[in-house]
Amino acid sequence: MTRQTRTDGSLRHLLTLEGLSRAEIELLLARAQDYVRPLGARPATSRALAGITVANLFTEPSTRTRISFELAARRLGAEVVNLEVQLSSRAKGESMLDTVLTLESLHVDVFVIRDAESGVASQVAAGVAPHVSVLSAGEGSVAHPTQGLLDALTIRQRKGRIEGLTVAIVGDVRHSRVARSAYHALTTLGVHELRVVAPPALLPGEAEFPGAARYTEIDAGMQGADVVMMLRIQRERMQDDAQLDAGEYFREFGLTSERLKLAKPDAIVMHPQPMNRGVEIASDVADGPQSAIRDQVSNGVAVRMAVLATVVRPA
Ligand code: NCD
Repeated sequence: MTRQTRTDGSLRHLLTLEGLSRAEIELLLARAQDYVRPLGARPATSRALAGITVANLFTEPSTRTRISFELAARRLGAEVVNLEVQLSSRAKGESMLDTVLTLESLHVDVFVIRDAESGVASQVAAGVAPHVSVLSAGEGSVAHPTQGLLDALTIRQRKGRIEGLTVAIVGDVRHSRVARSAYHALTTLGVHELRVVAPPALLPGEAEFPGAARYTEIDAGMQGADVVMMLRIQRERMQDDAQLDAGEYFREFGLTSERLKLAKPDAIVMHPQPMNRGVEIASDVADGPQSAIRDQVSNGVAVRMAVLATVVRPA
C-alpha cells in the first residue's frame, strides 16, 4: 500500500482508513462537522481550494459519491473536471496512470478515483508528482474511506458518541467496501461492539474484520444494537448470483419495522445507498423516524470538503 502521509506526517492521499490514527480521524471529523449546515440554510463555502483543480475519474457508476465530491470541491472554490474513464482513454488501452499524468500536465492537483478493481488508486498515488493528491472514491470491495468517515460522523451526530455503542453491519458484508471502511473508522474510534451480520454465503473471510462478532441470522445480530447499518446486495461483485432470490432474501434478511424492534428503541438505521427497497430494507423503515440515511448523504459533502481541505496545502 502506498504511503498516505508526507514525510512531515501530514495527510497527502486518502486511499484507506486502515492505519490512520484516532487523532487523524478525529481531526477529519471535526473539520467535517464545521462544514455541516442544516437543510434550508446556505451550504458552507470557502476559498480553501481557490486555484486548485480537482478531477473526478470514475470507472464505476456513481451518483451520490461523484456529485458529493464535485460539490465539495466547488464549495471550496476549486475547478472540477469529471471523466468517465471507460468511455475515453481506458477503452483505448491507455492506463489510468497515463490518463492521470496527462491531466497532471494540465495542472490537475487532486484526483478522485473510483474503480471496480483494487489497487488502481494506490498505483496512481505512487506515480504522481509530489504536489498531487489522490483520494479514493471506492476501490473494489476493499475500501471507501470517505464513506467510512461520513458514517462515523452520522453516528456521532445522532448518538453523541461512538464509544460504548453496538453497531450491526447487516447484509452483503463480503462484497462491501462500505463495511470495511466503517469497520476501520469505528474500531479506531473505540466502538464497543461491532457485529457483521450476513447469510453464510455473504459473510467475509474468517481473517477479515478481526475482533468483530459474526452472526448468520439477522434477528440475533440485531438484538440490542444502537446502530443498524444495512448494505446493498452487490450482484455486480458476485460470480454467480443465480441463487439469490430477492423475495427470499427479504424474508430472511430484510430489515422490516418488526425486526427493527429487536434493536434498541432509539436505534438508528443507515444505508450507504443505492437502496434496493423491498430486498434489503423495507421502504417504511428507510423513510421512517429512525432512518439516518438522508443525513448520511448530507454529511458526505461535509466529509469530502474536510478531506480536500486537509490534503491540499495552503498556497
Ligand atoms: C456504495 C458504493 O459504491 O460502495 N455507494 C456509495 O458510495 N454511497 C455502496 C453500494 O454501492 O452499495
